[in-house]
Amino acid sequence: MQLTNEEERMLSGEEGYTARKSMEILVALGDIYGAEGLIKVSSVQVAGVSYHNLGDAGLEFLNELAKDGKVKVLTTLNPAGMDLENWRQLGISEDFAEKQNLVIDAFTRMGILISCTCTPYLIGNLPRYGEHVAWSESSAVTFANSVIGAKTNREGGPSALAAAFVGKTPCYGLHLDENRVPEIHVQVNASLGKFSDWGALGYSIGKKAQNKIPYITGVKDAEVDDLKSFCASVVTYGSKPLFYIKGITPSSEKFQPPKDSVTVEDKDIRDAYENINDEVSKIELICIGCPHCSIKEIAAIAELIKGRQISPNTEFWVATSRFAKQLADKRGYTEVIESAGGKFACDTCMAVAPLKGRFNSVATTSAKGCYYSRHNKMLTKMGSLEECVKAAVTGKWS
Ligand code: F3S
Repeated sequence: MQLTNEEERMLSGEEGYTARKSMEILVALGDIYGAEGLIKVSSVQVAGVSYHNLGDAGLEFLNELAKDGKVKVLTTLNPAGMDLENWRQLGISEDFAEKQNLVIDAFTRMGILISCTCTPYLIGNLPRYGEHVAWSESSAVTFANSVIGAKTNREGGPSALAAAFVGKTPCYGLHLDENRVPEIHVQVNASLGKFSDWGALGYSIGKKAQNKIPYITGVKDAEVDDLKSFCASVVTYGSKPLFYIKGITPSSEKFQPPKDSVTVEDKDIRDAYENINDEVSKIELICIGCPHCSIKEIAAIAELIKGRQISPNTEFWVATSRFAKQLADKRGYTEVIESAGGKFACDTCMAVAPLKGRFNSVATTSAKGCYYSRHNKMLTKMGSLEECVKAAVTGKWS
């Protein structure tokens, strides 16, 4: 790669340990992927925050970087392994909380915003169309590329951190326009009736597109929350972290549908539910908010749960950013949800909290949530918000 004088200085260690380490990571990546040089990024989203995934080795790595590392651009954090304030209420152990707090301390010393959400675009890390960013967390990366029209590869935790310390990332992959051309036409002939259908659609397109960039036609309308859910699902189940929906996402009008084509019919949506859902009726955990709930989703939950009580045999979690929760406090939604027996899980989520072995079954509106819950050895049910709230009240899926 061609490096500027400043980049060479960082690589030689003249600007400290963390700058050198970061440059080593970026240069190694650039060499592997044939980048000609580094490009500036306007923001970074760092994943790999939960102590559950990092362990002591990860914590040590972060502490090393925090000794002299300061981020150079707006940098936000993905969910941690617990609610940073109300972790006890979610059944997190003292030992885990102590370690997770050390992880957060390290990120704080680096100058990172302790946002702990996978929806940074809802809380102020909102790039402009065409801007280069370096984000990790697959659903956020897909949203940035597809819905916002920013440009980012799917970074890992270390490469995102390295980009934050240097303010640049290697220019390859989805930073280059020639790699952002749609590769497969997906004609949607299915009707999307309920919110979780977006997860089912993502499942189906992810499987059918198989690592090709989909150009989707036949979708008439989509709200931000629908797209948020679709982003999480489509990238989890298969395709690249970029798609176009004709007439809905930016740049879709620039392209013609590719020749290679597949269709999604109502039967495919039904098949997606069949594959995602397990045979289980007793539900031990209901978790809404994968990706993290927007304030609109929290309002919908409050409306549905008002005057009802969560079953004593189950837990009902609303996973969201602390920022959205503060808004929910002001608008009275928190009181409604908590007086029904629901719990807010701010700063964390069903995939990165240490839930393995605690719950045997989960219900959610999220296809991605089901995917990761199966990794946590839980049986899964995906359905509409109404179906999930009903399960929370009865303790059963019906
Ligand atoms: Fe976000 Fe966790 Fe789902 S990071 S997309 S809530 S698995």
